[in-house]
Parts: sequence; C-alpha cells; structure tokens
Amino acid sequence: MDLRTRFAQRFVRPTGALELMVDLGRAAPGTHMLGGGNPARIPAVEAVYRRRLLEIAADPAQFGRFAASYAAPGGDLRFRAAVAASLCSRYGWSLTERNVALTGGSQSAFFTLFNLFAGDCPDGRPRRVLLPMAPEYIGYADVGLTGRMLVARRAGIEELPGGFFKYRLRLEGLESVPDVATICVSRPTNPTGNVLALDELESLDAIARARRVPLIVDAAYGAPFPGIQFADEDLLWNENVVLCLSLSKLGLPATRTGIAVAAEPVIEAVTAFNATAALAPGSTGAVIVEPLLASGELDALCRDVIRPYYQARSRQAVEWLQESCRELPLRIHRPEGAFFLWLWFPGLPVPSSELYRRLKARGVIVLSGHHFFPGLDEAWPHRDECLRINYARAPESVAEGIRAIAEEVRRAWGA
Ligand SMILES: Cc1ncc(COP(=O)(O)O)c(C=O)c1O
Repeated sequence: MDLRTRFAQRFVRPTGALELMVDLGRAAPGTHMLGGGNPARIPAVEAVYRRRLLEIAADPAQFGRFAASYAAPGGDLRFRAAVAASLCSRYGWSLTERNVALTGGSQSAFFTLFNLFAGDCPDGRPRRVLLPMAPEYIGYADVGLTGRMLVARRAGIEELPGGFFKYRLRLEGLESVPDVATICVSRPTNPTGNVLALDELESLDAIARARRVPLIVDAAYGAPFPGIQFADEDLLWNENVVLCLSLSKLGLPATRTGIAVAAEPVIEAVTAFNATAALAPGSTGAVIVEPLLASGELDALCRDVIRPYYQARSRQAVEWLQESCRELPLRIHRPEGAFFLWLWFPGLPVPSSELYRRLKARGVIVLSGHHFFPGLDEAWPHRDECLRINYARAPESVAEGIRAIAEEVRRAWGA
C-alpha cells in the first residue's frame, strides 16, 4: 500500500505510543508487564461497576443512553451535568454542562486540543505547545498534525534523602519561549508521579495568561477522580484552564472516556471536532459512572479504596527496589501520585533503550525513559538513564520484574 499523504507520513510510523500499546496488547503469557498504563484490577472497585451494569441492563432508559443511542456530540448530557455539579460543589467553581465535553479517551482530547491551539497558522508562523517540565507524558509526543509542535524545558533535579529525588519546575525563561500557543502539564506527572504544588500551577497559569494562551492541566491520575495523588489534593480551574480528566485510571480504560473542562468556546470547538471526526463520543463509561459521581459514591471509592490501594502498592514496590538494588546507584523519584515509579541510575553504562531490550528479551516489559522527553531538543544524558515501571500489576509479577531489573542493571555495570 502506497501511503504518501502528509497525514499518512505523520500518523503511520513507529512512535513511542505505538511501541507501548503493541507491547501491551501482544505480551506472551508469563510476561511481567511493568510497561503500559493499565490500572490495577481492584475487586472492590470492579464490584461497583458490575453492580452498575446490572442496574443499566434492568433499566431501558439507562440502557438506551449506554448503548442504544448516539449521545450529543459533546457527550452524554447527564454525565456532563454531573461532572460540572460535582466540581462546583467540591471546589466552588462555577460550571455547567456547557463547560464539559467528552472525548474518546483523554488521549484523543490531546489530539484535538493540541491541533486546535497549535500548528500552522494563516500568518505562516507555526505555533507550539510548551511542556514546561520534561520528563512528560509520552502520549503528547506525536499527536500534532504538523511536525515539531512541542517545545519542552527540562526539569531541575533536587536530590532528597533516602535515595529519592524530585523534579522541580523551572519557571525562569518560560515567558520568552517563542511561538507558544498553549502550556501543558500532567499532574500527577506520567512518568514520574510528581505532583506540582498548587502555587506552581498558579505560576504557570500566570505565565499563560500573560502570554494570552490557555493552560492545559492533565489530571488523568489525580484529583478529583481517580484521586491517585498522595499529598496535595488542590486543583486549579478558571476560564484560562483546560482541565483534562479521564475515567481510565478509575479502572475503566476500555470505555475510552475522556473529559475536558474548559471555557465554553473551547468546549464548543471540541464538540464540533467530535461531530466531524466521530459523530459523538461513547457513553458507556459516562452512564456507568454518572450516578456514582452524583451520589458521592465515587468520591468515597477514590478516597477509601483507590488511593490507599495505590499508596500501599507504591510503598511495597519502593521497598522491593531498594532491597534488590542495594549496592546500585539507584535514585527513585519521590512517589507523589499516579502508579509509576521512575528510576534513575546515574551513570548507567548502557542507554535505557538497551536495558529495555534486554529486559524484554527475558520477559519483563518496562518503559525506557528516553521516550518521555518529547519536545526537548537539548542533549541531556539523564534522559538515557531512567526507566518507568508500572507497579499496579500483580504483586508477584512486579516483584519478579524488579529482581530482573536489578540483575540487568548490575550486569550492565559488569558487576
Ligand atoms: C498523563 C496521561 N494523560 C492522558 C492519558 C490518556 O488516557 P486515556 O486516553 O485512557 O484517557 C494517559 C494514559 O496513560 C496518561 O498517562
């Protein structure tokens, strides 16, 4: 097949996201999957979704919304109203369903938003998305209809006691990066589990406002749901902020439900694109979750089950790592949220991409850190010294994977 269009050249090529999703879908039995972004299967959480499915099956009105009719192009109205109401009551913001649009997973919201705000403009100048703190989410990397849409600034590194470190936002110079159309951060950050403090978000918003561009805050893992955010639970929204939420990390990734919360003109633009590209987003996730959100049951599930579950798993994985890597120069990013550990081996003798290959050959899938610096042009050896592991898989598999990582790193050092 001869695919020669610009579109084909951009979207039909090997990308980090493709490699990741192929690894995720094709793993041989017995593989230790510490790679992708699948959430844990938490029985108490799945029991609630199963109960909802029975309720939906028994009720023609709910079943109609769930499967038998197209939603509005902005997504299921009752769910959008429930999202708006829940954010208003929790944070005191002033929102209606006209501030909320659904997309086919939040990944597709980034496709839409990045291309709405950035890219080629009639004045001939390309506008770009500024990622102010690399490492950042791999999924931002290749969604631009035009190339070189991202520009990133590297994070500062603060060493912490106990073998930990933390990336720090560096604000200086952000106001003068040229041709910026929007600023985007994930919070908690994938891959590191970093959580920007509220005042850091406010500083980014101030810079964005001064530049008259929107600030996109990707809270796929954070507050208000799934709330896998171990410390600071505050959140920022105003008419300049596009807050992106998702039902995926609540345990419903296959429903492909992304949620954008923004000023009405942004929501209208996302809605128009939805109608053209997909007619309407799916409603299955929305209908499962809507009454849980409206009744407060979802908040309780996040607070009492989901967050404590991941926090305990995170502590356990850190212990295993520190135990297995005792004599290695391992630094772990302080786990503040999401469900990844970001490992840094300063001076690692082989690039992390080679470590990834060696681990894959022995049935352990991790992610090489080099994927997580989209838009960062400057040379930085640090980007080849890191791995991301997902600690949400079965505990014995995580433990086995960690042992293999320690062995391969030791071998790389010739120890
Ligand atoms: C930071 C971040 N944002 C967005 C997404 C997209 O998730 P989804 O499209 O499933 O909503 C992911 C998925 O892993 C992610 O890690």
